[in-house]
Amino acid sequence: MAVERTLIILKPDAVIRGHMGDIIQRFEQKSYRFVGMKLIQFTKEIAEKHYREHIGKPFFESLISYISMSPVLIAVVEGEDAISVTRKMAGATHPLKSEPGSIRGDFGFVKNDNMYNAIHASDSQESAEREIGIYFGPEELYSYDDKKVL
Ligand code: PPS
Repeated sequence: MAVERTLIILKPDAVIRGHMGDIIQRFEQKSYRFVGMKLIQFTKEIAEKHYREHIGKPFFESLISYISMSPVLIAVVEGEDAISVTRKMAGATHPLKSEPGSIRGDFGFVKNDNMYNAIHASDSQESAEREIGIYFGPEELYSYDDKKVL
């Protein structure tokens, strides 16, 4: 096991419906640390940079219009095995296939054939490093010692 950093995005449905706190709390309950956090408004340019491997796929336009609906919360989560554990906490991509108890299982939904799955989480070490670098400079990420309080 190793201490890792991963990128999460709380998507517009989570922001608009007021679930940011609920989702943040799940990471805090797990003793994961937030070492960077900001709100940003996605544009087509940012979406093409972040989701570059999906450009041209049938769902890409729906993905852009969804992710641009409102500001999103971008955060870097740090902790033991944070990349794989965060993916597990997020649950399966489709909100109706994700397990109850997972973030998408509990907060995701489908409406008018559109899916809203609440959270993005980096899927590998390489993606995490690339995605963190899109949104955060080194000076915007903080290390702090939990041994002082635990
Ligand atoms: S693939 O082709 O299997 O790699 O794609 P997948 O992992 O299923 O999805 C890639 C990202 O696109 C999002 N997605 C969508 N968003 C909105 N509407 C539709 N129809 C849609 N289909 C896929 C999906 O949530 C993934 O985004 P992230 O942020 O990585 O979860």
